[in-house]
Amino acid sequence: MPVFLTQLFTGRIGQLLRMVKDHRARLFFALMAMVVVAASQAAIPFVLKHVMDDIFVNKDSQMLNLIPVGVIVLYLVRGAAMYYQAYLMKYVGEKIVMRLRNRLYNRIQDLPLSFFHKEQTGALMSRITHDVSIVREMISDAMTGIVKDAVMILGLAIYIYVQDWKLAMAATVILPIAFYPISQFGRRIRRYSTGYQAAMADMSAFLFETFTGNKIVKAFGMEAYEKNRFKTKSTDLFRLQIKQVVVRALSSPVMECLGGFGIAFIIWFGGRQVIAGTQTVGTFTSFIAAVLLLYDPVRRLSKFNNTIQQGMAAADRVFDIIEHPSEIKEVDHPVVVPDGPHRICFKNVSFGYSDGETVLKGIDLDVHPGEIVALVGASGGGKTTLVNLIPRFFDTTEGVIEIDGQDIRGVSLASLRRQIAIVTQEPILFNDSVRHNIAYGRQKASAGQIVDSARAAYVDGFVSRFPNGYDTRIGELGDRLSGGEKQRLCIARALLKDAPILILDEATSSLDSESEQLVQKALENLMRGRTTFVIAHRLSTVRYADRIVVIDGGRIVETGTHQELLKQQGAYFNLCRIQSAKDITIGEITGGEITGGDTIACDRGTEIPA
Ligand SMILES: Nc1ncnc2c1ncn2[C@@H]1O[C@H](COP(=O)(O)OP(=O)(O)OP(=O)(O)O)[C@@H](O)[C@H]1O
Ligand SMILES: [Mg+2]
Repeated sequence: MPVFLTQLFTGRIGQLLRMVKDHRARLFFALMAMVVVAASQAAIPFVLKHVMDDIFVNKDSQMLNLIPVGVIVLYLVRGAAMYYQAYLMKYVGEKIVMRLRNRLYNRIQDLPLSFFHKEQTGALMSRITHDVSIVREMISDAMTGIVKDAVMILGLAIYIYVQDWKLAMAATVILPIAFYPISQFGRRIRRYSTGYQAAMADMSAFLFETFTGNKIVKAFGMEAYEKNRFKTKSTDLFRLQIKQVVVRALSSPVMECLGGFGIAFIIWFGGRQVIAGTQTVGTFTSFIAAVLLLYDPVRRLSKFNNTIQQGMAAADRVFDIIEHPSEIKEVDHPVVVPDGPHRICFKNVSFGYSDGETVLKGIDLDVHPGEIVALVGASGGGKTTLVNLIPRFFDTTEGVIEIDGQDIRGVSLASLRRQIAIVTQEPILFNDSVRHNIAYGRQKASAGQIVDSARAAYVDGFVSRFPNGYDTRIGELGDRLSGGEKQRLCIARALLKDAPILILDEATSSLDSESEQLVQKALENLMRGRTTFVIAHRLSTVRYADRIVVIDGGRIVETGTHQELLKQQGAYFNLCRIQSAKDITIGEITGGEITGGDTIACDRGTEIPA
């Protein structure tokens, strides 16, 4: 049994067909139309027989009038059937593809962050754009073609067997022989096609990177290097495509030759019967015509099988993602986190990214409702990683995180994330209006609320200078927004979300001291009564925190208030000293007052005993 026939009823195609259950009526009418087209095809040799025998041999003048009328009617019916069949099948095909695209996108959106770290953005895009289109080709061209041709083959085969079963047997011997090259070609195409799609995804990823990162390409003068890399990739694509071209180009002639052998045999075998007078010229001609018509769809089966194998390779890649298991799972009956201030408790939490070493080790941290906790420490210590565990961007490797005493793995993800407003370390905005960017987490916010948040984050000033104000699209601004402006927009977005848990990861790092102080005030107002995690390198911005947690090498090395930690003269004290040393240098340059001797200036003003 050829590969495509088994696939038709099991595996991927079955999965695809199940997606169009509600189009059964359309499929049925398309099938009916196909039967009509196929039957009209089979009628051609029948007409030919009567033209030969009734008009040419018997010279029947009544038939001379009747047959042309019959031919016209035949072609009109055939034309209409062809139209409906093509339209209906394409419609169903496009519909499957649309649903597949939606399912794929929905699935990708639901996959955890770790998935996006593993996959390249451009490669994922290629699955939705390129791979899905190949699936479409398979559904609307090949699957339609196969059904149509199968009906046609059946019709013509019945016709020739009725005409002369012995001759028909001789003519159809080649059919089983033909299946061998068909399945061989198909196998090759599938393999090459998988390679081609992977190469295409790789190229998309490359394009995405070099276009979005073009500033760096230019700044480091790497244009020639990137052009070369692209050339290698496009050459790879070319080679893989040519391999497919060879197989495709070969499959037609091979099938045709097989057909030629069959025809030669029939001419010899049938010709003898005509010469011996056991068969009419008409029957023989119509028989040859039927066999020629029959070989055509058989030859096409090979072509369609190639397209199907290519489509199956693409479908595999698409379903790979649709069926990709998510590591972040919800339990069957998750608890909904109610609104309100929350207590967050880390209990002996350890965490490592899937491929790397342990990043967080034995974290114990109990944060009371409304408490402001500052996380400080050297770069790469694990601060961002720690706060990323709260909205379950990743799950802990060991230990639990509890919200109000409930393991966060037991609560509904949506309700958990609703409780959290976050300003991430790198500002992320979407190509939408400023207004929609601010209202991203709260789309029902009124214009007044949006402007209030914008004012609090000091966004209002520069936004009102844009020609379209709050309706200006971020994309229209190109790269016009400064780092600090982007950061303030992200803060406005978090302010508007107005959630009881606040995570600020270096939220004001790109601001100058003056605007930082202003935004800081807005944030401090906001933090009141909310459970807040604030990460900062500039220690002056976290002095007000209820508790400062110093993280180093994935461990909590110190906790306490600003004053307590200074007294301890440990890690925090040292961090302060390094930063104040910087302040001293600045002080010297600007001629500011520096307290030397037995005290050193820490953090813009706080004096500590050395
Ligand atoms: N997606 C990831 N996959 C693997 N390792 C990661 C990933 N993200 C971060 N890491 C590693 O985890 C460690 C902690 O990173 P993290 O971003 O939490 O540090 P951080 O304290 O926030 O640093 P910074 O102050 O520079 O922002 C680093 O060694 C980093 O290389
Ligand atoms: Mg970080």
